[in-house]
Amino acid sequence: MPLLRTTRSLRTTVLAGLLLAGTAVVPLASAATATPLYKNPSASVADRVTDLLARMTLDDKVGQMTQGERGSATPAQAAAARLGSILSGGGSTPTPNTPGAWADMIDAYQRVATTTGLGIPILYGSDAVHGHNNVAGATIFPHNIGLGAANDPQLTQRIGAITARETAATGVKWAFAPCLCVARDDRWGRTYESFGEVPDNAVANSVVIKGLQGAALGDTTSVLASAKHFIGDGGTTGGVDQGNTQITLDELRRIHLPPFQAAIAHGAGSVMISFNSWNGVKDHGNKFLITDLLKGELGFSGFVVSDWNGIDQIDGQTGFTAVEVKQAVNAGMDMVMVPYDYQKFVATLKAEVLNGDIPMARIDDANRRILTKKFELGLFERPYTDRSLQSDFGSAANHAVARQAVRESQVLLKNDGVLPLAKQDNRIFVAGKNANDMGNQAGGWTLTWQGQSGTRVIPGTTILDGIKAGAGKGTVVTYDRAGSGINSSYKVAVAVVGETPYAEGQGDRPGGVVLDAEDVALLTKLKASGVPLVVVTVSGRPVDISAQLPSIRGLVAAWLPGSEGAGVADVLYGDHNPAGKLSFTWPRSASQQPINAGDGKQGLFPYGYGLSYRRR
Ligand code: GLC
Repeated sequence: MPLLRTTRSLRTTVLAGLLLAGTAVVPLASAATATPLYKNPSASVADRVTDLLARMTLDDKVGQMTQGERGSATPAQAAAARLGSILSGGGSTPTPNTPGAWADMIDAYQRVATTTGLGIPILYGSDAVHGHNNVAGATIFPHNIGLGAANDPQLTQRIGAITARETAATGVKWAFAPCLCVARDDRWGRTYESFGEVPDNAVANSVVIKGLQGAALGDTTSVLASAKHFIGDGGTTGGVDQGNTQITLDELRRIHLPPFQAAIAHGAGSVMISFNSWNGVKDHGNKFLITDLLKGELGFSGFVVSDWNGIDQIDGQTGFTAVEVKQAVNAGMDMVMVPYDYQKFVATLKAEVLNGDIPMARIDDANRRILTKKFELGLFERPYTDRSLQSDFGSAANHAVARQAVRESQVLLKNDGVLPLAKQDNRIFVAGKNANDMGNQAGGWTLTWQGQSGTRVIPGTTILDGIKAGAGKGTVVTYDRAGSGINSSYKVAVAVVGETPYAEGQGDRPGGVVLDAEDVALLTKLKASGVPLVVVTVSGRPVDISAQLPSIRGLVAAWLPGSEGAGVADVLYGDHNPAGKLSFTWPRSASQQPINAGDGKQGLFPYGYGLSYRRR
């Protein structure tokens, strides 16, 4: 009498008992076959997941829901804990920081993971938010605020595809991107990660997900996207990072939800939960948001990942607790970016299942969501890096696309005819801390979490490089950061000012976003020289420049252009007629924050504003 012909309820009870006891149960029907069903690529993903789940112990399942940072788990430790995912936090890189070393590192995790236990490959994640920005030599694209101004979703999708190819080339198959936040207060340090102050910009550019995930997740050049951060990160009171978003459900739906609806329509494979609170309740523990709204009403079928140690914020006390683990997982969290104390997390989660506080059904649902994406990515068949993709890593062709994105993202805010610059027989004086600094023009999330200043920290061209290269016969270009040497022999001065790199809360400016003392002094000096003045702002958001505006003849917002500062010069010389439009209202004063389209406030330049050259 074949054992399997028991009644379903009895079999289920037996199965559940064995599972809770931590014993793997191998369906007899599969035992007879040489290759387990889940390892059969011709089987349906759903069947492979079902077969694999039935073979998994509670330890296996709890491990799949756990993401550890590379610095806290060796391949052997990761496999011992059966971790489902490893990540690189911002700036967490192998040495040397090269595509080959990344591939060696990630393949080492895969080699151990796929040869122990059930052989479930890990999914490696990294913040590829404007190119594969943790890796030296990657093509660095403009941050989202510039792409919002460019308003060219097709180009954004292409950027996603190039980013995916350069990311997959290093073995990383999960990008924690795109950020689809709708930044409503520019004092927020993550404003530059937003496409715009209204949902339309993020909705339109969410198509980047199709670039990242490709025609099929299983394509060797595809990576899993992660729409983030769900939900309301850009709406906190005062623009405080990880603060409290105090708005009605209707406002939440109207302003912050549409980009995630678009992301789901584009097939986003994962969603990252936001640090902020909504009316005093941390998103990471909010079942209505994660389960009822995201998974239920929006029908999100991928998996939900926490942000960095985000569950630890639920009770406001330092150190995550069993209560927080229970609340987050029962709220619908599928994977937890712990990221360091993963042994404690694994033990805590297992205990919460064994004591009945977290139902096995929730664990199985989380695992089904995670494993489905791993099968769809083809990780079981191709766990190792496709190193052939490294052939065009950071290539000239990829940089050419970056330069086009820079051109299109430039917004011309003022021009009395001083622009475009004459290429020939000109005498151009270039000044400012951001004219010749690759680090400043790339901004945060570049090689390191916070980014860094430095003339040549990444390969590419500075704005000064572009101005020099574009100069024609009889033209002299002089550069001095502080403007020393400016005199009436020059026909035009170009001052490149703005912000230096930052990320997340370190970029919060409660007092508003203003020019620093160096920039103010420079503009004062140049104004005093009487030389016609062009100002270029390199910044993660609008900067209060009202006081200086009367003495500025031409004003261009360059945002954070990334690798190809020469794209800014293309606009200054008129090789590209500027067409960028503000995706953020430019304030008349820092004290106007928050200021957004339709709120009745009068900014210096409105949302959607941008000039072009009158063609002679
Ligand atoms: C950070 C960010 C998130 C990022 C994650 C991993 O704190 O909030 O955007 O993806 O941690 O680096």
